[in-house]
Amino acid sequence: MTGMQTKVLLRNIGVPNSHEIETYLSRGGYQALQKALREHQPAEVVRIVADSGLRGRGGAGFPTGRKWMFLPKGVYPRYLICNADEGEPGTFKDRVLMEHDPHGVIEGIAIASYACEVHQAFIYLRGEYELSYHRLRDAIVQASERGFLGKNILGTGYDLDVHIVRGAGSYVCGEETALLSSLEGKRGHPKLKPPFPATEGLYRKPTIVNNVETLFNVPFIVEHGAEWYRQWGTERSPGLKLFCVSGHVERPGTYELPMGTPMRTLIDDLCGGPRDGIPLKAIIPGGSSTPMMPAEVALQTNLDYESIFEAGSLLGAGAVIVINEKTCIVRTTHRLAGFYRHESCGKCIPCREGTDWMYKILHRIEHGQGRTEDLDLLLDICDNIAEKSFCPLGDAAVGPVRSSLTHFREEYEFHVSEKRCLVDG
Ligand SMILES: Cc1cc2nc3c(=O)[nH]c(=O)nc-3n(C[C@H](O)[C@H](O)[C@H](O)COP(=O)(O)O)c2cc1C
Repeated sequence: MTGMQTKVLLRNIGVPNSHEIETYLSRGGYQALQKALREHQPAEVVRIVADSGLRGRGGAGFPTGRKWMFLPKGVYPRYLICNADEGEPGTFKDRVLMEHDPHGVIEGIAIASYACEVHQAFIYLRGEYELSYHRLRDAIVQASERGFLGKNILGTGYDLDVHIVRGAGSYVCGEETALLSSLEGKRGHPKLKPPFPATEGLYRKPTIVNNVETLFNVPFIVEHGAEWYRQWGTERSPGLKLFCVSGHVERPGTYELPMGTPMRTLIDDLCGGPRDGIPLKAIIPGGSSTPMMPAEVALQTNLDYESIFEAGSLLGAGAVIVINEKTCIVRTTHRLAGFYRHESCGKCIPCREGTDWMYKILHRIEHGQGRTEDLDLLLDICDNIAEKSFCPLGDAAVGPVRSSLTHFREEYEFHVSEKRCLVDG
């Protein structure tokens, strides 16, 4: 433990030149890769990761080892994609890893690729992440020079090339099937599932898509074992998790905690509590798509998939957005609705029309032209988008609208009746 944080994933952050291979090697880097290649068959690595209980950190929390086991036997080539698109408002944890510990990302990709019998891996990188791009590109060059990537890695006969592909600014391209379309050079539209990428993905070949943080966990698990990893967290949400906190706290930033840690520890102890002592109103626990929670409810929950779900929201990607009492919930929701309206790819009607309609209604409420019936109309539109859209972007767009109306309806009603904002006095 360093202070109140458990620093495993973030152990190199803050170390001078943490992005250079010499620094990484001096701190034990690439030993897990050597161990995986020399001591384990690919299937054994899959088993270790499955036993650790690691769940995907991209938002859905799907068990990583189980996903790898879905690869159909005997079908090659297979591909691995590191999802580094990180486009959801509130998320910035992957950026921290890529900028400050790029070799950790590369080592995770290399071990996962070995486990999945992949020889071509891709990093699908958010286009705006300039420094991440340079750090990852340099890390690939350095790792190749030292024999950790390329042909015959460490003399073991295993070959792996890692390529970086930069996105062009579309949020939906973080969704795995849209990502695959984009990577194939097509318009970044989602595809129907099944088939899931693990059975039919890039170029219709078996493809594993994993988040940056998910892959970053893999070297630690392989080096120390599944039991070691399970010392943290809960039975169903084991391990450590990064939380990127933004909004009204004294010290926003990226923190590492065991799953199951009380939200209050994160907000009050690590982040220094509410900024300027102004009481909190709401917390969005997992990124903008996860339902907003009243602060008093959120502060009673623990940071694991099950606890947050039981309390009415989702852990998502662990992007905690903190909102204080001086913030207008209508304005916040209007702003988020604008994001989803802009990012809807337009392929399916519920999402394309619904996000636009929700935005327009929120716009008029925010600007003093709302009607009483608008509030129920908004909820009705939410019902017609959620679970009826082609991909989960529709559900994501509904998250802030439905939850804000459920928990903060009086702010909407005040906007409609008084034609101004409740918090502006
Ligand atoms: C609209 C949308 C955007 C997404 N963006 C990302 C993203 O930027 N990064 C990410 O890892 N997963 C993102 N996902 C989730 C991916 O589809 C996929 O579940 C994830 O990459 C799987 O990796 P994991 O199992 O390691 O979490 C997004 C999903 C949706 C619906």
